Amino acid sequence: MSETHHAIAIDGPAASGKSTVAKVLAKRLGLIMVNSGAMYRAVTWEVVRQGVDPTDPAAVVALLKTLAVGCGVKDGHSTMTIDGVGPGAELRFEAVNAAVSKVSAVPEVRDVLVASQRDLLRLGDLVMEGRDIGSVVFPDTPFKLYIDASEEVRRQRRAAEGQQDAVGERDRQDAQRKTSPLVVADGAVVIDSSEIGIEEVVEKALEVLKQRGWFERESEEARS
Ligand code: DC
Repeated sequence: MSETHHAIAIDGPAASGKSTVAKVLAKRLGLIMVNSGAMYRAVTWEVVRQGVDPTDPAAVVALLKTLAVGCGVKDGHSTMTIDGVGPGAELRFEAVNAAVSKVSAVPEVRDVLVASQRDLLRLGDLVMEGRDIGSVVFPDTPFKLYIDASEEVRRQRRAAEGQQDAVGERDRQDAQRKTSPLVVADGAVVIDSSEIGIEEVVEKALEVLKQRGWFERESEEARS
């Protein structure tokens, strides 16, 4: 962790509500919002676009070595470019949904993206959501949440967004991979969003942050 900046880590399976919670917390607490899944999706889009087989790790690594990956922040959100181009709607294409768990299981892909994710802490306090944020990216942060929901609820949420996304299958791949699988990180508090609305999830999250000293941390900084 940086000497001066702090990270809130939010992990959980696909469509658990973690992005929405992270966005609300970022707005309320004035944090940089980092969607780490978008970074894995951006690399996956490049794999798909260039016709590389996502199930062939050596081919994915060979492509990765040719790419210039750039990370930054704009309007309070993290941004990512590949060879100077920031992908947009492509990140949610069905082909990306289908391949992203394969590409993100490649250790070399994770090495590059985890380094970029840690580097963002130089730019300010942030809330980062993903699968391995509390376990691998920022294991020392005391501010760790795991947002969960039943598979049926998550499948319905994706369908309501008009998305073709086999969330259950993606979660199984994300939880079973060797490198940095989806886990409840040591010290993370689990919040189940299946039966409660987003406001209630946010209230619970704020309670955890309060108990763990997030707000004292801010006032200490303000005094110094
Ligand atoms: O959050 P998302 O559903 O957009 O993430 C897409 C995929 O990226 C997810 O299925 C697994 C991968 N991912 C990861 O391996 N590690 C992260 N920290 C974030 C996402």
